[in-house]
Amino acid sequence: MSGSSADNRRAGAIGQGGEIGRAAEAIRGGRLVVFPTETVYGLGANAFDAEAVARIFDAKGRPGDNPLIVHIADIAELADVTRDPPEIAYRLFERFSPGPLTVVLPRNPRLPEVVSAGLQTVAVRLPSHPVARELIRLAGVPVAAPSANRSGRPSPTDLGTARRDLGDRVDVYLDGGPCEIGLESTVVRIASGASVEVLREGAVTREMLAEALGHPVRGGAPPSAAESPGTRHAHYMPKARVIPFDGDLPFGALGARAAALVCCREGPDLRDAQLHTGVLVYRFDSLEEYAKSLYRVFREADERGCDRIYAELPAPRGIGRALRDRILRASGEGHS
Ligand code: TXA
Ligand code: MG
Repeated sequence: MSGSSADNRRAGAIGQGGEIGRAAEAIRGGRLVVFPTETVYGLGANAFDAEAVARIFDAKGRPGDNPLIVHIADIAELADVTRDPPEIAYRLFERFSPGPLTVVLPRNPRLPEVVSAGLQTVAVRLPSHPVARELIRLAGVPVAAPSANRSGRPSPTDLGTARRDLGDRVDVYLDGGPCEIGLESTVVRIASGASVEVLREGAVTREMLAEALGHPVRGGAPPSAAESPGTRHAHYMPKARVIPFDGDLPFGALGARAAALVCCREGPDLRDAQLHTGVLVYRFDSLEEYAKSLYRVFREADERGCDRIYAELPAPRGIGRALRDRILRASGEGHS
């Protein structure tokens, strides 16, 4: 009996390795794979295969002018996808990777233009999820991947949601459980003078970047359409209307909590939310929990036929900035 649990573990590991191995083969064969990352699920293809990358745009219904993120497994692979990355890029990757940071850098001309929607730059990220890392490593090529949702829908934070969105448009689905972070990666670019600017807020916060770099980090300045075309498009939208509210608006009945989301079908105003049938109330003990749950709740509200989602806006600090950004975009208020 003594060896059996070790044997089982080994069998499990081989089983999983086999699955990831088959997915890696699919990537090399020009096919599409949905895979988990620590932020959200991704829809991946071989970044060097222009036809496979074009299929990502088709499967998502994504506008062709919205560039993709290229995922690598090791900092050494930066040289394959970028051209002369500045020293500060290495500093950022060494400090925050693997993890939820994406850096926009000059594109290696070997990389097909379709990945970057024709831009001379490419967005690069080194995810920390073990399944993502193993997939990229076994594929032996960088993996271009947007979030695994149909364009305009909230990013999927579990496999079932990705599958419901993309169905048989995708060849292989890899499960890695619910995503740890739940919001997409922080996207930064390096401006002239080696200063870092945040193009999309995420779990690597401006405060963390500033601490690592030793100078304040700007953000929120919307890049011009030519620099980051994706920021023009609608994002993160559930079907229900999202109504942001500040923590100090009347909501006392909910009691103490770090943040709350309330989903309703018709019915009266916020104050009566708890009394009304068909009302879903979610409370979160931390902003991290809120971030992890936001897109799941958006989807749940849609499935339950709610027509409004009241979403509390956290203070613009730390991960609160990313939450505010996604909530405001989902509400149609757009860029923040
Ligand atoms: O966490 C994430 O970043 C997830 C996982 C799968 O890695 N991916 C993700 O990809 O959210 P996507 O395609 O949904 O968002 C990519 C963002 C878009 O806002 C896009 O405009 C921006 O990155 N982006 C990509 N390439 C860019 C470039 N060359 N210059 C500026 N922005 C770029
Ligand atoms: Mg996306």
